[in-house]
Amino acid sequence: MQARAQVSPNAIDVGNDSTPLVSTENLSVIFRGSRGSVTALQDINVSVGRGEFVSVIGPSGCGKSTLTRVFSGLLKPTHGTAYLKGAKIDRPRGDVGMVFQQANLLPWKTVLDNVLVPARALRQDISKAREAAMDLLRLVGLERFAHNYPSELSGGMQQRVGIARGLIHNPDLLLMDEPFSALDTMTRDHMSLELQRIWMARKTSAIFITHSISEAVFLSDRVLVMSARPGTIVEDIKIDLPRPRTLETMASPEFAEYCLVLRRLFEQLVHFN
Ligand SMILES: Nc1ncnc2c1ncn2[C@@H]1O[C@H](COP(=O)(O)OP(=O)(O)O)[C@@H](O)[C@H]1O
Ligand SMILES: [Mg+2]
Repeated sequence: MQARAQVSPNAIDVGNDSTPLVSTENLSVIFRGSRGSVTALQDINVSVGRGEFVSVIGPSGCGKSTLTRVFSGLLKPTHGTAYLKGAKIDRPRGDVGMVFQQANLLPWKTVLDNVLVPARALRQDISKAREAAMDLLRLVGLERFAHNYPSELSGGMQQRVGIARGLIHNPDLLLMDEPFSALDTMTRDHMSLELQRIWMARKTSAIFITHSISEAVFLSDRVLVMSARPGTIVEDIKIDLPRPRTLETMASPEFAEYCLVLRRLFEQLVHFN
């Protein structure tokens, strides 16, 4: 597979520290219930470098959200270990930011106060955090809406507030679980461009779960492909396209080739399992 052997020269500064930002060792998650057990993840061995943007794609129910819950410290693996900067992840941590499928903004708080929620939870200096929140709102293009309420914003705008909130505490890792899947197609393409811009400005490592192959190719340094349950990582594909990627990138033959490689893989996973 041609796409696989290439090395991306485009990963943003991965730093001198050779410890991966995130790694796992034979990680498995088994849910035990009254009607038997479900192996959601099986023997996951993966690492994400500092500053890397890595997408995870796979069929519904293959364990993508479970993997993000382990990385966020909300769920303990049944076997194996997940590490952040070489330390075992065994509880929620302040150096991880999360963005979810629904923006989940608090309707009674302004946009600015929503962005400040993690800063308050982590007991940060609020006057400094307020400045940082305004910088982030400027970065996501919503500075003018700082004092509006979420109901006054479109779905795409709310999700950009969600991204600003995920970054307010300056996390080393931004975990995003299908953040654009509730948005319409036009807004999604726009959000991909926006997210790339924000990520290039912040240099945060990112793990991005998506159902969209083209979104994964557009945004990522690497795309991890998971099999249907029990979820394992079956491919790790480097995306060697120059950055910043643009709308023209989406129309290029190289982009189409990566999408085709992934689409074929996906077909095999869904239909031959
Ligand atoms: N808390 C839970 N208890 C029991 N089963 C669960 C739980 N969370 C997820 N699962 C099961 O684990 C599998 C993986 O789920 P999930 O990680 O949500 O998949 P994905 O995000 O890829 O769609 C699914 O079969 C799901 O039903
Ligand atoms: Mg999910």
